[in-house]
Amino acid sequence: SVKIAIDTGYRHIDGAFVYFNEHEVGQAIREKIAEGKIKREDIFYCGKLWNTCHPPELVRPTLEKTLKILQLDYVDLYIIELPMAFKPGDAIYPKDENGKFIYHETDLCATWEAMEACKDAGLAKSIGVSNFNRRQLEMILNKPGLKYKPVSNQVECHPYFTQPKLLEFCRQHDIVIVGYSPLGTSRDESWVNVSSPPLLNDPVLNAIGKKYNKTAAQVALRFSIQRGVVVIPKSFNPQRIRENFQIFDFSLTEKEMKEIEALNKNVRYVELLM
Ligand code: A2P
Repeated sequence: SVKIAIDTGYRHIDGAFVYFNEHEVGQAIREKIAEGKIKREDIFYCGKLWNTCHPPELVRPTLEKTLKILQLDYVDLYIIELPMAFKPGDAIYPKDENGKFIYHETDLCATWEAMEACKDAGLAKSIGVSNFNRRQLEMILNKPGLKYKPVSNQVECHPYFTQPKLLEFCRQHDIVIVGYSPLGTSRDESWVNVSSPPLLNDPVLNAIGKKYNKTAAQVALRFSIQRGVVVIPKSFNPQRIRENFQIFDFSLTEKEMKEIEALNKNVRYVELLM
């Protein structure tokens, strides 16, 4: 999928240690570089610091582990994946005997300082966060001695969950919103709230798509990029990988943008109940 994506023109690759595929993703990138298709600097790889690695002394070794798996010298962006921490250790989802998550008290500001040190060491070109709300962003922005602001906040964002307030706050602070699940997720019941209807069946998205000879998926992606939200659509299907890239040859009118904005239900697909 990564190789097809790169051949198609994608350059931003959203990864994470916790996806357990960094070795394959890194291999695909390196093969495309070896083929002469791209240079390393053409790729924008985002890696993520998992919940069990928030203690400051774990941050750099964790990023170094990701780089070793990827076999790359740096990531373009390294982000704190979630604002809550789990007990450090081998268990990715540490649980007690009652099946409850074992959390770990850490200071997000101290984690952030360790992220800043990764940037200073050249291991990450930029640093950011994910799943942070306004209060958590403000904690970092107001930290005494802040060296680098988060450049981005990766959160769920699509026509059914448009994040108007967070988007405005981030705009004011020059923080880019990267929207995950821009197509409404894979509806995997193990982590998705499937009681919210499938985004791509939406009649408005489909009707607008018809006008431009585009699919609902393409309209949803175009809507996001047109409002300044970076999209990271996921597909394992070559045809859909290509389809999701064909969004630069049309634009939505102001009226259509408003119509799509009005679809907002303020309901998340990804509830992150932990
Ligand atoms: P597939 O991998 O079979 O293409 P999200 O990016 O919101 O997480 O959504 C990912 C889900 O959407 C995956 O299940 C993916 O399935 C599916 N998907 C990706 N692109 C499209 C598309 N253009 N049309 C319909 N479904 C798509």
